[in-house]
Amino acid sequence: MEVVMRNMFQSLAKNTSANKLAKKYGLRFGASRFVAGETISQAIESVKDLNNAGKAGTLDHLGEFVYSEAEARESAEMCLQTLDAIHASGVQSNLSLKMTSLGLDINKDLCIKNMKIILERAKQYGNFVRIDMEDYAHCQITIDIYKELSSIFDNVGLVIQAYLYRTEEDMKLLNDLKANLRLVKGAYKESAEVAFPQKKEVDENFKKIIKNHLLNGNYTAVASHDQQIIDFTKKIVAEYGIDNSRFEFQMLYGICVELQNKLISEGYKVRVYVPFGVDWFGYFMRRLAERPANVWFVLKNFFK
Ligand code: FDA
Repeated sequence: MEVVMRNMFQSLAKNTSANKLAKKYGLRFGASRFVAGETISQAIESVKDLNNAGKAGTLDHLGEFVYSEAEARESAEMCLQTLDAIHASGVQSNLSLKMTSLGLDINKDLCIKNMKIILERAKQYGNFVRIDMEDYAHCQITIDIYKELSSIFDNVGLVIQAYLYRTEEDMKLLNDLKANLRLVKGAYKESAEVAFPQKKEVDENFKKIIKNHLLNGNYTAVASHDQQIIDFTKKIVAEYGIDNSRFEFQMLYGICVELQNKLISEGYKVRVYVPFGVDWFGYFMRRLAERPANVWFVLKNFFK
């Protein structure tokens, strides 16, 4: 049953009509538990609350299905406005983005051009931009573009997914580049040809890459709500005397807030991923797919 629901939510996340409809009707069905609002100012208010609780933010303007240059430019403009708003408000937050929203599927050069404009603006403000990792089909091109950008900019980081077989090899190259990485399990529906099908294998690979990256001395963001992964990270940093300034924990907005608070009280750095925007549906469906139990929460909100 759980697998059926997971597949259903993952398919819905990619359904263009459902996404369009959701965009038209605004944040619904309890999505505001996971999405910080539709506007930049609402998102900035959420980051202020997080900062007051001792947490940093990473703002993500949600955007799926970008098919034209104009849409890609609009999306890049939203990233610039977000960086401007972070600077003007003085909140502690960097920016996360998906390169498909900047035109990756239309034209690689267009995407690189948009990325350079965004990284330049972030640099002016002394800020940092994290490139999210999308599905397997975009993995190689994302790493290639990251390589190119990181040879010009030192304020760019990447996400790497533990569920892919190729990750261990990718990490060797990224280690040579001294990459600042966010390490995650992986959120997309991938085949057993490219990704570990069993949770146990994903978790083992996750631990392996966390340890390698930390021990290689590169900045590591461990992005997980999984208690055993968090405990493992704490054990490694204590065992090898890795300073708190060399790593951080990251979690998603509205998920495991008590665990976030506990890490803060223990003196660790915590950054919360704060998604916002009218294009919330795909993101919301991926969160439901991760934890089908969330569907009861949706049903409760459906009738409100
Ligand atoms: P796991 O899925 O095993 O969950 C552990 C526990 O966490 C669950 O038992 C539950 O208690 C809680 N939990 C997890 N997900 C929940 C949810 N949706 N609702 C409620 N509780 C939940 N992926 C990707 O492919 N590319 C990317 O760029 C990113 N970026 C990213 C940034 C940040 C800051 C985070 C935290 C995660 C991502 N991800 C991602 C998503 C990631 O790949 C993964 O799908 C989720 O983090 C869920 O995996 P966990 O490690 O939390 O463990």
